[in-house]
Amino acid sequence: MRQSLVIGNWKMNGTRASAQALAQGIIAGLGTSNAALAICVPYLHIPDISQVVSGTQLALGSQNIADKAAGAFTGEISASMLAEFGCQYALVGHSERRSYYGDTDATVAARFAQAQEQNIIPVLCVGETLEEREQDQTFQVINKQLDAVIDVAGVAAFSRAVVAYEPVWAIGTGKTASDEQAQEVHSHIRKYFADKDQAIADKLQILYGGSAKPDNAKGLFAMPDIDGGLIGGASLDAESFLKIYNSTKAV
Ligand code: 13P
Repeated sequence: MRQSLVIGNWKMNGTRASAQALAQGIIAGLGTSNAALAICVPYLHIPDISQVVSGTQLALGSQNIADKAAGAFTGEISASMLAEFGCQYALVGHSERRSYYGDTDATVAARFAQAQEQNIIPVLCVGETLEEREQDQTFQVINKQLDAVIDVAGVAAFSRAVVAYEPVWAIGTGKTASDEQAQEVHSHIRKYFADKDQAIADKLQILYGGSAKPDNAKGLFAMPDIDGGLIGGASLDAESFLKIYNSTKAV
């Protein structure tokens, strides 16, 4: 059985003080769940939050990671810098990075590889736009996003990675995929991996993201191929984030 995992993506929100208070609030409310829990915070908050989470069950991650190891890449943050501050996860290829900041399948694959070079677990985000869904392209779009990473990193690399299915039309819109819609895509993703390597597919954590909230998380997480969530807006409040975390399947 796969361990459940819930990751908060704070996006570009919070002050130094509010970020620390939110992390402390999450830690204070942690119960006895054996699911894993992480927060991906803005880069500037990583030093503070790494101290807050130190020695707790709450893991730390970044929202992006450079596609190169070091050098003249103004404005970038490398995998080794993130590792030095105890980041265990890095989001790669979030749709907001793909659509607003020019991330391509090739740069996403390079970021994925850089994360693994430093033993950071890449959380590869994939998902279709509304237009692509309406044109019945969902599976093709996701296959292409996965192929690009496998071509560079190989399928075995997914024994140390997480995949997050985030339908672009559900992100920040309040429109969640139904339990069945999400399960259909998660099952497709698992089969995609199973066709290449059954053991990798069986162990791979596939998270759902897109307007996941305390009132819909339980239904989504009950689906057989949904192993947890990547949570945006609802992760900015400790109580709702913990409710979502406590909705994961018991293993
Ligand atoms: P929301 O939960 O705000 O829809 O965001 C989802 C997301 O993009 C997480 O990475």
